[in-house]
Amino acid sequence: MRELPIILFGVGGVGRALVRQIVENREFHANQYDLVLRILALCDRNSAVIELDNGIADPDLQALLALKAAGGSLLEHPLGANQSDLKGIVDIAGRAGAVVVDCTASDVTVPALLFSIMQGYKVVLANKKPLTVQQEVYDRLTRAGVTTTGNAGWRNLGQSRWETTCGAALPVISTLNRLVASGDEVQRIAGTFSGTLGYVMTGLQAQRPFSEIVREAHQLGYTEPDPRDDLGGVDVARKALILARGLGWPLDLTDVQVTGLYPARMNQLSIDEFMLALPELDQQFQAQVEAALAEGKVLRFAATVADGQCRVGPTLVEASSPLGRLGGTDNLVEFYTRWYNPNPLVVQGRGAGVDATASGVLADVIELAYTI
Ligand SMILES: NC(=O)c1ccc[n+]([C@@H]2O[C@H](COP(=O)([O-])OP(=O)(O)OC[C@H]3O[C@@H](n4cnc5c(N)ncnc54)[C@H](OP(=O)(O)O)[C@@H]3O)[C@@H](O)[C@H]2O)c1
Repeated sequence: MRELPIILFGVGGVGRALVRQIVENREFHANQYDLVLRILALCDRNSAVIELDNGIADPDLQALLALKAAGGSLLEHPLGANQSDLKGIVDIAGRAGAVVVDCTASDVTVPALLFSIMQGYKVVLANKKPLTVQQEVYDRLTRAGVTTTGNAGWRNLGQSRWETTCGAALPVISTLNRLVASGDEVQRIAGTFSGTLGYVMTGLQAQRPFSEIVREAHQLGYTEPDPRDDLGGVDVARKALILARGLGWPLDLTDVQVTGLYPARMNQLSIDEFMLALPELDQQFQAQVEAALAEGKVLRFAATVADGQCRVGPTLVEASSPLGRLGGTDNLVEFYTRWYNPNPLVVQGRGAGVDATASGVLADVIELAYTI
């Protein structure tokens, strides 16, 4: 049986679902892939559990998951210890063939990830932040053979995966990478990457007031506690940037043109004040939807990656296009290329959720198990 050592950063919703799925699939991975996945280190914000010999035993993993699900720290477990240095954890727990998995939502992980790559370990990211800071960090994490003079090396097909950074487990990044690898010319990518914003746009198309839809989504828990975190579009901008960089375009987050669903002046308000002020925006959205309908188009909150640029915000699309026909909370990505034109290659489905996302992370880990 082949051992696959794993070091996991982040034991939140996705990290916990990943550990659960690793444990549930032990027999399957042994039978079908000849693999035993050993979690050597588990880290949260301030603490870690490390078991170097056979990895953390399943009963301990279950206890740790229960602790984290109840809002505790790994430190509360007898095996838990303080940690303030993820790179140090990789240094201690890393070994040949190790896969370092980032399920945090922080760029604090960057030094540890770069160190992992330098050590020859593999890296799987659910976390978008390391891929949306400096271009050089993106290059080092996704390209092999980066030179000491800073030139980006060649595309790395063996050492890292980041499928769940765009559209959760939907095969968006792997589709992009395959199109690029084949030498196909990707002319335009257009996609919706937020279930919450999909819900809002579907409501608008049904001629409901913007304020009513946002309040409903907030009450149903579809939005972040502060709905502006969704409505501002920054998370979608990070995804658009990851796609653009995947095409080889050297852009930064500040280059992405983002038009959110509320004006900047509303950033000064408290959450309650913001919710009360929402009706001010109703008329403007109603007018936009009606103007779109009059042209046979619909309004989508889309990311568009084309002509060397990234744009994110309300976008008019043909009602008959895949994006135009989309309703509800699914993510949908259209790839227009030399070979996929005029009809795009389309990827569609659930683009969020901790279990779906963790399944994508696990698939990335398994894919890397047999790469050099
Ligand atoms: N949820 C989804 O549907 C989804 C879909 C696609 C991608 N993602 C991405 O997946 C990642 C995880 O999402 P999530 O929903 O699981 O987030 P989450 O519940 O907020 O969990 C984040 C975890 O990261 C840990 N963490 C934060 N800073 C850290 C640090 N410096 N060192 C080590 N651990 C640290 C947190 O520790 P504490 O437990 O101590 O706070 C927590 O365990 C995010 O980047 C997210 O964007 C999520």
